[in-house]
Amino acid sequence: MKNIIITGGAGFIGSHVVRLFVNKYPEYHIINLDKLTYAGNLSNLKDIEDKSNYTFVKADICDFDVVLGLMREYDVDGIIHLAAESHVDRSIKDPFTFARTNVMGTLTLLQAAKVYWESLPGGYEGKRFYHISTDEVYGALELTHPEGRTSEISAHEVYGDEFFLETTKYNPHSPYSASKASSDHFVRAFHDTYGMPTIVTNCSNNYGPYQFPEKLIPLFINNIRHRRPLPVYGKGENVRDWLYVVDHARAIDVIFHKGRIAETYNIGGFNEWKNIDIIKVVINTVDRLLGRSEGEDMNLITYVTDRKGHDMRYAIDSTKLKNELGWEPSLQFEEGIEKTVRWYLDNQEWMDNITSGEYEKYYESMYAGR
Ligand code: NAD
Ligand code: TYD
Repeated sequence: MKNIIITGGAGFIGSHVVRLFVNKYPEYHIINLDKLTYAGNLSNLKDIEDKSNYTFVKADICDFDVVLGLMREYDVDGIIHLAAESHVDRSIKDPFTFARTNVMGTLTLLQAAKVYWESLPGGYEGKRFYHISTDEVYGALELTHPEGRTSEISAHEVYGDEFFLETTKYNPHSPYSASKASSDHFVRAFHDTYGMPTIVTNCSNNYGPYQFPEKLIPLFINNIRHRRPLPVYGKGENVRDWLYVVDHARAIDVIFHKGRIAETYNIGGFNEWKNIDIIKVVINTVDRLLGRSEGEDMNLITYVTDRKGHDMRYAIDSTKLKNELGWEPSLQFEEGIEKTVRWYLDNQEWMDNITSGEYEKYYESMYAGR
């Protein structure tokens, strides 16, 4: 594999994947294809932008001619597809944008790859289409142990008896997860119908540097810093399984190179947290690192109207990935959250650039009157 398109490389997870591939594989040419929506930010990649094995192309994955042109121009061998609309709350307000980018965009990439690869003498030999998806396609798990219980599957407490497996039936609830589920089906259909060498992975919630502050952890770190209210949806009892973003990028590297064609792999942190508990950890950490007294900002917690259709619990079982390819999260959560909070506090300029301009309007429309 020499020439790889990574879509969505200017976003949160994509920027970590681009950085890893550009630095680790100097013999590869990495083409970052990104439309630079509100969520795309080239300053996420400042440290590698001058590398000779890296090219940025501003383009829309829905533009078939442009994508096919890039496949031909760079003689592309592999696609790692991360570009998407990714925020559940936005999908509730504007589902069409999610169908366009996540469904039609993925289909456009698949079709362009098909046309190009089928035109080559070797066809699909040595090619790979790797689609990055989410555990949210599986729906929601029940909270059968609201107080948590110890379990062999996780170093932390778990909040239910069931976990998402690769065989779990799809049951998406939000427009976001419905659009991702649809795109996953198209990817598998291109394998089953045309023989395209595809792989799909479904990952749990990521956290870490460069995440857009519409998602829980960076939004709350920024609000605590500025002593703004912390809008906790419902009772704060929903459970998410958190994975440090660099560990997701490591998994993508291993799976892209060694994963079996047509397989699905679940990627997770074995790290379940109730929202309210993780919020308390974030408050304590920000307070400590800012030299405030620990817990001083607990009074910022503000319970607000719940998200519509709010999935109760996500929990991934990534045993298959561990057993087959030897991947495991490298960081304990305590270490990951400390690094993350420190990064946002040390990179206030990055945050200020994002939260100037349009961001206040977004914030108003999402949270005013909630
Ligand atoms: P993000 O919103 O931070 O970044 C998305 C990127 O895609 C941005 O750079 C944006 O400019 C680009 N993009 C959007 N529409 C585009 C289009 N039409 N053409 C080209 N580029 C476009 O998202 P993220 O959190 O980094 O997620 C990346 C992928 O991982 C998504 O597919 C998401 O579904 C999946 N995922 C995310 C998480 C998570 O916790 N963030 C967990 C599991 C899976
Ligand atoms: P989010 O980061 O949006 O990820 P996802 O919805 O994909 O899991 O939200 C994580 C959890 O935090 C989710 O249960 C919703 C909750 N949440 C809040 O309570 N308040 C907020 O302002 C946000 C953005 C999320």
